[in-house]
Amino acid sequence: MYIDVHCHLTGEEYEANGGVEEAIKRAEAAGVSRMICSGFDLTSSLRAAELAERFESVYFCAGFHPSELKKYQSGDLEAIERLCKKEKCVAVGEIGLDYHYDDNPTREKQKELFLRQLELASSLCLPVVIHSRDAAQDTAELLEQNAELLKFGGLMHCYSYSPEMSERFSSLGLSFSFGGTATFKNAKKVQESVRQIPAPLILSETDCPYLTPEPFRGRFPNEPKLVKEVVKKLAELKEKTIEEMQIQIRENAARLFPKLYERR
Ligand code: NI
Repeated sequence: MYIDVHCHLTGEEYEANGGVEEAIKRAEAAGVSRMICSGFDLTSSLRAAELAERFESVYFCAGFHPSELKKYQSGDLEAIERLCKKEKCVAVGEIGLDYHYDDNPTREKQKELFLRQLELASSLCLPVVIHSRDAAQDTAELLEQNAELLKFGGLMHCYSYSPEMSERFSSLGLSFSFGGTATFKNAKKVQESVRQIPAPLILSETDCPYLTPEPFRGRFPNEPKLVKEVVKKLAELKEKTIEEMQIQIRENAARLFPKLYERR
């Protein structure tokens, strides 16, 4: 069985190929037993919650991605909070810091909403799913200063920083998920991080519709069924069999996201 802990199924990318329903069915047929559909603003969080209601294998997280804060309006956080109280919401996310593009919201604004959403997660006893791009130092500092808000754990999704940096995050109790980028031939740093991060802290994701893994790199849209290519690469890097890696990831996911396995 495979688990995709971070995917985006709420966009229009799947329309051409039978709709998102078909993408979910293809994933289930390929052995993907759990998918966590991640919100990145209020609309996508609402849609993720709807998908989770319709499909047994789909769970979700709700939150505001740092690059999407331009859309943020007062009252949105209260709406996110209501979504987070739903049975199939497993985390607050994706939240974090993204300094990649110059026209992203200001760093102050990003930090403020990141912190408020960390507080929300802690108050709801939920873990967080963290997006951090070109902002390693500020992300680590903000989390270290607010370590008490991480008592329900968290995930550094699509982890792209160095192995050294990963030790700062793991000492805060955080886990790491890897997607298509870990399969790319030129992704030496990411692969070195996979090798060095302890196996009990590693999870698999697709971050679809982007970052399609090898050997399908470049194909659009990516979809959850391709998480098996990611797991294959993770197994190789951790010197495990694919089955051992699947079992390890299942254990790690159950520990970090207990709500994934609470329902009957
Ligand atoms: Ni994402």
